[in-house]
Amino acid sequence: VNDWTEVGSLNESWNGREVLIRGRAQTIRAVGKKMAFVVVREKGFTVQCVVTSQPESVSLQMVKFVASLSRESIVDVFGLVSVPTVPIKGASQQVEVQVKKLYCISRAISTLPINIEDAARSEIEIEKALQAGEQLVRVNQDTRLNYRVLDVRTPANQGIFRIQCQVSTIFRQFLLFEGFVEIHTPKLIAGSSEGGSSVFKLDYKGQPACLAQSPQLHKQMSICGDFGRVFEIGPVFRAEDSFTHRHLCEFTGLDVEMEIKKHYSEVMDVVDRLFVKMFDYLNENCKKELEAVGRQYPFEPLKYLPKTLRLKFEEGIQMLKDANVEVDPLGDLNTEAERKLGQLVLEKYGTEFYILHRYPLAVRPFYTMPCHDSPLYSNSFDVFIRGEEIISGAQRVHVPDFLAERAQACGIDVNTISTYIDSFRYGAPPHGGFGVGLERVVMLFCGLNNIRKTSLFPRDPLRIAP
Ligand code: 4AD
Repeated sequence: VNDWTEVGSLNESWNGREVLIRGRAQTIRAVGKKMAFVVVREKGFTVQCVVTSQPESVSLQMVKFVASLSRESIVDVFGLVSVPTVPIKGASQQVEVQVKKLYCISRAISTLPINIEDAARSEIEIEKALQAGEQLVRVNQDTRLNYRVLDVRTPANQGIFRIQCQVSTIFRQFLLFEGFVEIHTPKLIAGSSEGGSSVFKLDYKGQPACLAQSPQLHKQMSICGDFGRVFEIGPVFRAEDSFTHRHLCEFTGLDVEMEIKKHYSEVMDVVDRLFVKMFDYLNENCKKELEAVGRQYPFEPLKYLPKTLRLKFEEGIQMLKDANVEVDPLGDLNTEAERKLGQLVLEKYGTEFYILHRYPLAVRPFYTMPCHDSPLYSNSFDVFIRGEEIISGAQRVHVPDFLAERAQACGIDVNTISTYIDSFRYGAPPHGGFGVGLERVVMLFCGLNNIRKTSLFPRDPLRIAP
């Protein structure tokens, strides 16, 4: 055997064949001096390996060596696949490997801060185990994040980050297919791109500067640079003060900007096609990953329509009013109102994914285009999954003097964004776009309760390491 076989691919069809696998020794159990069991894990899949000196498979010394391995050490195992007569508990694959050779490639320290099996249990399993009098330590979020390299080894976490990879891949492939150009904009910029206080300020060789709160200004400038349709996948920095389940200080932004021919609905059309395709793909092609997530964090599959529902902000307000929720018709929706509207939309239209558009102008960033028929509203939208925002988008103001006026009215120092505003003085097409938070999409698609679960090394107001 020259090739390594993946643990996840081992099944009954391998019966009687020799394999070479590499993985981590998840559990090691010695039975007397002549036999030991090692559960080997690779990419979330596990297989039981049997080391026995009877009949003459391996030496007694070998059994002793295997029994002394520490958990999470990396091992190469060479052996014969067999199908046991009784079902295997504690391993995902229903075959065993009768070990002929086993090498330890990297030894883990013997006292691990997290027990992976404990970290992989669902709340229900933990409750049951505790009731049965089992000794187990509930692994809290801070411990998980402090020892993230161990925590991400659980099947659910492996699933989450593989799904995340698919989301950004589908985003990229879909947009390339639709004629968008991938761009990379600077993250060190002179002025705030979104306004407000959530800006990380820094000293740029003696000049005041900040970390980009979004690629907003430069993606629009790229449209002035004749690319027609652009997108970017990159880091976004927000100096958030509040510690919430859905805000990070650094997240991955999936950004889109495009020329508009007639109406900002063209931008919503892209959102619709992109996300329906994405959800279909994830459901079809990430079944194992979704199951792994659901086993630890049970959730219902997302309900969405083949053509995404579009609701006007005013209609949303009316639905909330009809349900006796107090809302300001020209203000922003708070988290509670967004959730409530999500419920009402689900009841009425049967979807947990929808677009809410024509927001009041006063609650949108300075670069947002007002509605042509009412200056109180804007050509803008938010998109929701399970009652929480994952996208905001809009048509932008492409008339430079009006843009400067809007920036000033929103309290932005126009001098810090003068190169941006000037970009529109050389001829600028009508355009619009949207920004998606990658971690939020994955969190909400998988029905998870905290964005830290979908950020590999989260940055929040209290955490900058590991
Ligand atoms: O709503 P935001 O701030 O909009 C923009 O950045 C605009 N430039 C987008 C545009 O093209 N008009 O952010 C866009 C998305 C949000 O919908 C949310 O999913 C995510 O980014 N997001 C955050 N994710 C994690 N932590 C935070 N602090 C986030 N702030 C926004």
